[in-house]
Amino acid sequence: MDMTTAHAFANQWIIDDSEDGVFSVRAKAYCDPDIYVAEQKDIFDRCWLYAAHESEIAKPGDFLTRRVGARELLMVRGKDGELRAFLNICRHKGGTVCRERSGNASTFRCLYHSWTYTTQGKLAGVALKESYASGFDKDRFSLYPVRLESYRGLIFICYDETADGLKQFLSGAVEVLDMILDQYEGIDMTILPGAYEYTMSANWKMLMENSMDAYHAISVHTRFFNDYMPNVMGVKMSRNDLFGRTSEHVGVRDLGNGHSVGEIRRFAKNMDATKRSMWEEKYGKERTDRLINYNRNLLLFPNTIIAEQFPMIRTCFPLSADVTESTSWTLVPEQEDPAIRAGRLQGFTSFQGPGGFGTPDDIEVLEQCQRNCRELPADAYLDSSRGMKQEVCLPDDELQNRVMLREWRRQLDLPMGQG
Ligand code: FES
Ligand SMILES: [Fe+2]
Repeated sequence: MDMTTAHAFANQWIIDDSEDGVFSVRAKAYCDPDIYVAEQKDIFDRCWLYAAHESEIAKPGDFLTRRVGARELLMVRGKDGELRAFLNICRHKGGTVCRERSGNASTFRCLYHSWTYTTQGKLAGVALKESYASGFDKDRFSLYPVRLESYRGLIFICYDETADGLKQFLSGAVEVLDMILDQYEGIDMTILPGAYEYTMSANWKMLMENSMDAYHAISVHTRFFNDYMPNVMGVKMSRNDLFGRTSEHVGVRDLGNGHSVGEIRRFAKNMDATKRSMWEEKYGKERTDRLINYNRNLLLFPNTIIAEQFPMIRTCFPLSADVTESTSWTLVPEQEDPAIRAGRLQGFTSFQGPGGFGTPDDIEVLEQCQRNCRELPADAYLDSSRGMKQEVCLPDDELQNRVMLREWRRQLDLPMGQG
């Protein structure tokens, strides 16, 4: 693009020209405080957001408190067995109703003046009630409910009363979630206690892009691919073996609504290949082959990654335009061979952990990008065009970025250049 064209696009947030294979996004999209405010309102307050797994709140009275989007939630399985989510805010003066991160309770008592709520969110009692007049109606002071739906054990919440249901929102991602979870059909899945939680000085969209981006893997994670994989894991696979054009099923697909999936060849053997004949009978040969030989990395718009390999569920939330909070959990079969569990955890920790080969290096690079983005001129653009004219986009192309950023622009209703 010459300078005249660049000038014509000065007010466009995304330039998306499929004919010429141009896809550019303004660097400001990653560091503008007004964009952050718009994202909270138009994206995080409207989309379904992954919040928890049902195994974390399995029994009546089990609860979790967790920040999801911009709000603190109390998620609880009521005495009636129903899962519910509430704002963790007392209806008296706004105190925090529950200050524990998780547990089992029959009621929740606000610290400030001891108003007490049931597991179904009703105001059960107030302290020193004789001073309230007869017009005081406890039924008017239930906790504020938040929409909650779950799909195959994954709990999502949504702050928008008018939004479509979860399954509609998930769109083509339903089939991918099924592929991932069918492998454990009939087995209870559980989130292992503990999670990797960290904040980083980079925009949340940078972390989302990075989580799906195989392009950086060879340069940033050199030691993992060149040393750790062959020497510790005993895996000798080249970039072409993992996601070259020679492999049949590899590639990234647009799943609708901003979601995408990337498939790469499996290199960790935590898959029970003995199930092949059972699966072939049930799902057919092609799907079984994909289940056994490929891993899926799923991006659920706006802020969730599910990496099948461990499996890992990771969310990220912006705390400002420049700061992102990220949490990663491992979802495992409740009963499994200890050696398989150990291998799973070693893989997860050695790459995603605080001393791992992945996360620390990614954070270093992303924080660098963030600092640099702020220094670029206001009309500077960054590129996400890789793979644009290819028939099949590979995991080290950037289709997943484009899918996410197009939806991001659509949700924010920002102007776009068509090229
Ligand atoms: S603020 Fe909760 S009881 Fe007063
Ligand atoms: Fe990385």
